[in-house]
Amino acid sequence: MNVQVFIEFLLYVGNVLFLLFVVVPYYWLKSLYHILNPSQPKSVKGEIVLITGTGHGIGKELALMYAANGATVVGWDINESNNEETMRHLKSLGFSLVYAYKCDVSNRKDVLEVAKKVLRDVGEVTILINNAGIMPTHSFLDHTPEEIDRIIRINVFAHFWTLEAFLPAMKKNNHGHVVCLSSMAGLLGLNNLVPYCASKYAVRGLMEGLEEEFRRIPNNRVHFTTICPFMVDTGLCKRPDIRFQYFNKVLKQSDVAKEIFKAQVTNQRLVKLPPEIGIIFTLIPFWPREALYYFRDTFTTELLSDLY
Ligand SMILES: NC(=O)c1ccc[n+]([C@@H]2O[C@H](COP(=O)([O-])OP(=O)(O)OC[C@H]3O[C@@H](n4cnc5c(N)ncnc54)[C@H](O)[C@@H]3O)[C@@H](O)[C@H]2O)c1
Ligand SMILES: *[C@@H]1O[C@H](CO)[C@@H](O)[C@H](O)[C@H]1NC(C)=O
Repeated sequence: MNVQVFIEFLLYVGNVLFLLFVVVPYYWLKSLYHILNPSQPKSVKGEIVLITGTGHGIGKELALMYAANGATVVGWDINESNNEETMRHLKSLGFSLVYAYKCDVSNRKDVLEVAKKVLRDVGEVTILINNAGIMPTHSFLDHTPEEIDRIIRINVFAHFWTLEAFLPAMKKNNHGHVVCLSSMAGLLGLNNLVPYCASKYAVRGLMEGLEEEFRRIPNNRVHFTTICPFMVDTGLCKRPDIRFQYFNKVLKQSDVAKEIFKAQVTNQRLVKLPPEIGIIFTLIPFWPREALYYFRDTFTTELLSDLY
């Protein structure tokens, strides 16, 4: 072994030991400290939040959550009447800074055009919540190619187009936040949800990559939050099959919106909902595969096919 290789060897081993026995424990303690002494949440007053899919479900609840906390809310949906209804409801509650736009988020041209209108009518978007999504549920070979294409365009490509429209201003102003709805199906492959899982893993990767790029910018103040919920009672999950329904409760959309809001204003990176099930999902990669099969077969939490 020549001297140079020996020095590299020492540096390598030294850094590995330093990482494992100093850096990791130090930051574990630090995160424990932050859990016990949470920092002041950000205010969203005066922020312009753009939420996709505000016509129904989680997006609709998020619109209410942000309006109630003083943000200007811009809601996009492909379903114009539902979206108008959401904004009428918010106005009837006394929130006047709310705007509805019809937009098909899977269509790049539509996204860029409507984004221009938003800039003109409302201003620069400072919080982007990519929430709109679809979830056809059946076995992989029952998915049509058109359906697979739609899933990827709405659940994945839409994120690229909205980021193209709104991220440059956030970067320029060094101020902004992007939130994305992944899913527990973005952490574990699931029966009857193959293309959906692929789409939810994809956006998790997209967000991790973005976070890593922005982390390198000195004093970066653009944040990224990925949300991975268990089943929510919006009707998106058409035929849930849950064995222990008291423990593995389908989440309430209003609770999910509250948790998403909390995660955003405290700059969380990845949030699994509910936290109890989230802990299991965090541990699963360390389990032997057969233990995972036992877990799945015993604590059934499945979606049955929506075709039969
Ligand atoms: N409901 C659940 O169990 C659950 C669980 C985990 C993750 N999620 C994710 O949360 C997000 C919201 O789900 P939800 O349950 O509120 O759904 P939802 O069906 O209740 O609402 C989705 C909204 O998005 C809109 N939308 C659909 N395609 C669109 C398009 N091309 N352009 C613009 N708008 C479009 C719909 O019109 C609808 O108003 C989705 O991304 C979903 O994958 C949901
Ligand atoms: C919008 O949603 C409502 C109810 O969910 C539905 O009746 C209506 O057909 C939808 N409109 C469009 C254009 O998809």
